[in-house]
Amino acid sequence: MNKLIDKTTKKYVWINGEKVETENYATLYSPYSREPIAEIAMADAAVTKEAIRAAYEAKNVIGDMPAYQRAQILENVVNILTEKAEVAATIIATESAKPIVFARAEVARTIETYKFSAEEAKRIHGETIPFDAASGGVGRIGYTMKEPIGVIGAITPFNFPLNLVAHKVGPAIAAGNPIVLKPASQTPLSALFIAEVFEEAGLPAGVLNVVTGPGSVVGDVIVEDDRVKMVTFTGSPSVGIGISNKAGLKKTTLELGSNSALIIDKDIEIDAIINRCVMGAFSNQGQVCISLQRVYVHEDQYDTFVEKFVAATKQLKIGNPLDSETYVSSLITPSELERALSWIEETKQSDATILTGGKVQGGILEPTIITNADTCLKVSCQEAFAPIVVVNKIATIEEAVELVNDSQFGLQAGIYTNNVKHALYASKKLEVGGVMINDVPTYRVDQMPYGGVKESGTGREGIKYAVEEMTELKLIVWNQE
Ligand code: SIN
Repeated sequence: MNKLIDKTTKKYVWINGEKVETENYATLYSPYSREPIAEIAMADAAVTKEAIRAAYEAKNVIGDMPAYQRAQILENVVNILTEKAEVAATIIATESAKPIVFARAEVARTIETYKFSAEEAKRIHGETIPFDAASGGVGRIGYTMKEPIGVIGAITPFNFPLNLVAHKVGPAIAAGNPIVLKPASQTPLSALFIAEVFEEAGLPAGVLNVVTGPGSVVGDVIVEDDRVKMVTFTGSPSVGIGISNKAGLKKTTLELGSNSALIIDKDIEIDAIINRCVMGAFSNQGQVCISLQRVYVHEDQYDTFVEKFVAATKQLKIGNPLDSETYVSSLITPSELERALSWIEETKQSDATILTGGKVQGGILEPTIITNADTCLKVSCQEAFAPIVVVNKIATIEEAVELVNDSQFGLQAGIYTNNVKHALYASKKLEVGGVMINDVPTYRVDQMPYGGVKESGTGREGIKYAVEEMTELKLIVWNQE
């Protein structure tokens, strides 16, 4: 047990700037050691509605706050988080088993996400409309304004428990909206930590409320309450589709899963890309929506790639997430481990070959590389969200693009090529939200538009783009006659 997390501490829900007790609590366990790490409040429908009421009543407080003041609060968060970076990284590593080197990288990105939010708060504006371009518009002047949308319900996943909260809370506050946040059940501590950081930063009570508890209660109340004007969700496609069905006329941004793919052309120097491929496939144990899950390598390079990729993967250190040497640690829950193993078992019953991994070491799934996997196997066609990657041989770029597109998902894809025509062809034909040329699909920085097509979701994150989703356009027309 590390000193920053005290298992005896009860963690309350955070409503209207106060810690609120609930009737029921659940023990939170470390995914790695299985030790208890905290007692987490389990909100019911009434507590969730209380949080929505607090947010609704804070609507004008934050909606009427001048942009420079909203920006200043977000800047204050940047400064406080910078001072507390190691505390934040330790919380992430402890509650999610993200290896500490990756947890530190997540904190650094979160600081940037809030920095971008502070900057974006100052450039939210509409435009002048040329009314006299229509004969009926002569004598009118008019312009648009971007107004805060209102209470935002944010439902966040376990895999980036600080930065994916920041991707919802940062732009919401930049745009002048209050929030009710339901963090993932396994990672409430990062969300409660940031709520306290916001309080220290001067955010008025009620603007950010954090409600922990079962998704079937807290999530459903948030999605169905009429006072909530927008739901922003990152998580599994099945939950996202359920939210979309229940949300009615509410705006939704859904950032769902993927079985992201990479194409490697014949002209690529394999040594130069191996470390990137290892990072893309195995960082955070493959629990990243844009994790590299399918690789399509040109037949001329296939044997070299497979040999070097397997050799590099075998070097990865497996172990305690708090150890700076660890690259791969535990999946988020024992049931996720069981699911991943059952998918591996399915490949063993097929003609597929497991080149490395496929076994459990001290409760941790070894990074697993599979070849000859049929496209209908779960490891190929569903989202693995585990350290599992499938490598395939292709003869042409056209064939590779067709195989990448043969998926219900479409978040990001990558292509390594020195051939401009192939890069342009892939950019045009790949059915995804983002194409990474000469990089893995796992590339993301926090200001870029991020989101998918098909079952990977709707809407875009990335601060400027999230602000667009979180504001309503209002038209003002002056009649001068
Ligand atoms: C995600 O898993 O969707 C987030 C990936 C990232 O922010 O790097």
